[in-house]
Amino acid sequence: MKTLPKKQPIFANDGWKVVENGFDEKNNFLSETIFTVANGYFGLRGNLEEPFYDKKQTFKATYINGFYENYDITYPEGGYGFAKIGEAMVNLADVKSTKISIDGEEFSIFSGKIIEHKRELDLREGILKREILWESPSNKRTFIQFERLAHLKYQHLGIIKIKINPINFSGNIKVISSIDGNSSNMLETEDVRVGSGVEKFPFKTLKTWANSLSGFLMQETKKSKLAYGCFANHILDFEAQCNSKADIEKNLVIFEISFNASKNREYSIIKYFSYYTERDLSKELIEQNCINEVSNAITLGYEKLLSEHKDFIDKFWNISDIEIDGFEGIQQAIRFNLFSLLQSTGRNGISNIAAKGLTGEGYGGHYFWDSEIYILPFFTYTNPEIAKKLLIYRYNLLDAARDRAKELHHKGALYPWRTIAGSECSAYFPAGTAQYHINADIVFAIKRYFEATNDIDFILKYGAEIIFETARFYVSLGSYSQEKNGKFCIHCVTGPDEYTALVDNNAYTNYMAKMNLEYAVYIYDLMKNEYPEVLDSLRKKINLEQSEVNEFKTRAKDMYLPYNEKLKIIPQDDTFLSKKRIDLSTIPEDQFPLLLNWHYLDIYRLQVCKQPDVLLAIFLLRDLFSYEDLKNNYEYYEPVTTHDSSLSPAVFGILATELGLLDKAFEYFRYTVRMDLDDLNNNTKDGIHAACMGGSWMGLIYGFAGMRTKNNKLYFAPKLPKELTYISFKIKFRNSDIKIEIYNNKAIYTLIEGDEIVLSHYNIQFSLAKEESKEFLIE
Ligand code: BGC
Repeated sequence: MKTLPKKQPIFANDGWKVVENGFDEKNNFLSETIFTVANGYFGLRGNLEEPFYDKKQTFKATYINGFYENYDITYPEGGYGFAKIGEAMVNLADVKSTKISIDGEEFSIFSGKIIEHKRELDLREGILKREILWESPSNKRTFIQFERLAHLKYQHLGIIKIKINPINFSGNIKVISSIDGNSSNMLETEDVRVGSGVEKFPFKTLKTWANSLSGFLMQETKKSKLAYGCFANHILDFEAQCNSKADIEKNLVIFEISFNASKNREYSIIKYFSYYTERDLSKELIEQNCINEVSNAITLGYEKLLSEHKDFIDKFWNISDIEIDGFEGIQQAIRFNLFSLLQSTGRNGISNIAAKGLTGEGYGGHYFWDSEIYILPFFTYTNPEIAKKLLIYRYNLLDAARDRAKELHHKGALYPWRTIAGSECSAYFPAGTAQYHINADIVFAIKRYFEATNDIDFILKYGAEIIFETARFYVSLGSYSQEKNGKFCIHCVTGPDEYTALVDNNAYTNYMAKMNLEYAVYIYDLMKNEYPEVLDSLRKKINLEQSEVNEFKTRAKDMYLPYNEKLKIIPQDDTFLSKKRIDLSTIPEDQFPLLLNWHYLDIYRLQVCKQPDVLLAIFLLRDLFSYEDLKNNYEYYEPVTTHDSSLSPAVFGILATELGLLDKAFEYFRYTVRMDLDDLNNNTKDGIHAACMGGSWMGLIYGFAGMRTKNNKLYFAPKLPKELTYISFKIKFRNSDIKIEIYNNKAIYTLIEGDEIVLSHYNIQFSLAKEESKEFLIE
């Protein structure tokens, strides 16, 4: 097992908070990511309010999920079917920045004296709080507080509250608030994982106006031609002189609030702001919707808005919270991760979960298979209505996926490896388009969603069409090979492990494509028997004949599933086992991640894995494999896996638990769950690792609680590592909410809500009636 990084925590440990005491400029990039507040629609990176001036350790950003600019993907030597037009999430007008001057002395973290500085992300309230006790160069002490939130219920609304208290003086205070449309994007850097092809300032400002304490700015992207608007208004609890100015040339709206402050009184300014884009509604409606959003908010008032925000988050925690006792920092980290997932996740059917959430520009704000395989499990079993929206997003991309399949001369639909609005944005096809498993990953998530919810309406309206079109695609992708005993093979693909590319018969792809084909037949038969009219109209719509469904069945039956008798393992692909096996201990630490330090050709030539591939197939399709299969493959692939992808350790941890390797399992879990809070991969500055966060939920639920599903039933096989003494969590399955509590020696299952349910604890099957609890020993 490769040694996994460990670091001293940067943030104070607290079960419900992430706290930064003091201010250390060198951690600021990281803090900005960690202190992001977002609501699935927009995200405010955790920048300080006051200007940073010439200091470099900051990246000021605001994003809207699914709002993008296009860019040309250029190749000196291009090729047919290469991705040509990229989409990247863009940095939008900033409303956070605020200048505060005390009798002409401007507050800055770098001037005067910072006597106290504290930032706190309250995970139970969903609010970022900041407190500063500042002494100006002429010894005037001011206590300044900021609160920032992205409203979870009203997703177009954000609020910033500023409180200023002159401690030892009376004097003039000036606050300059703004809507600053000069935000810039990160350019492509040496790190292939950060920056996009979008230009630094990709906007044309269409409109600005200001009127007393309210103002509006509207911009449009130069290439994607998408407009967005931002409106703000301020409510003060004191008399002040207010001036505002809108300057379209400078892309700026500013509000100047000047007042004579008395010693020891608190002055409060509440800034309400809203964003709408042309992806939500037509351009003409943006301005009015922005204004209405804020006006309604002001009518409701701060306290009411806060309580509605809190109600939303209470409901979320009520079903999603995981309580953990044991190893320090695990409780805090899991809550931070689950909260970050909520913050990152689009809920409108036209957005999804970017690899870095709404916290930074890593991976261009693109959506990957990360959503379906690593993050959806959490939502499917706790907040299925969010899971549904994420899957509807995929449905809304189906036409684009059909076009892409056609472009590549295939049938059915091929989902893009990375995208925002549907076009393939992966410029490096060997680790992009070639990852044809994305289709089956989406179908796998649909299958799990349907199993967990029995939401037949979803299948009839959206799911079936995706399942049939992707099955069609795999039929046209593969071919029969006499060399492989007349089996159906899939050539020239890349599996999940990006350190091996363009191979034949990648086991993961073949197994998952087979699952996709079989599930298409299952759903077809189910519809034929129970919803023949819906099936008829879908068949007409997509021209699906019974003969084609018969093909799905035969291709699935004939699928080539590789196995190596001598080693008793599944070869990752046709040539993997013949390559030179790497000894990871001979590679200096500074060479990892290999992708940044080695040419891909040198990586592809070796038996080395970035992340689980065969092992992921075993985990996802667990029923198809024996314990021996799991053990043999784990022992074979673990020593050659670098975990250079943050998606990797969670799956190893889950499988290690099943194999009884609890020390290893905990180590993989620790690394997964603390990835961002401790910046273990040194790149959280570019954004959170959303899939890894989903992996931390999986590590607890599939790993230590041993949850599996089979034939529409839930199974548990709990086993805690010595570092943990208690875990408790809830699962929604069908019409039941179940609470599971795990101690070192026993597990308690309670049906808190819903219909009687049959569960299994290891091989003991039992049923639970409403509010009934049953306890079992863990050997
Ligand atoms: C991983 C992919 C993943 C992507 C985005 C890459 O490093 O290899 O599996 O989808 O990151 O998170």
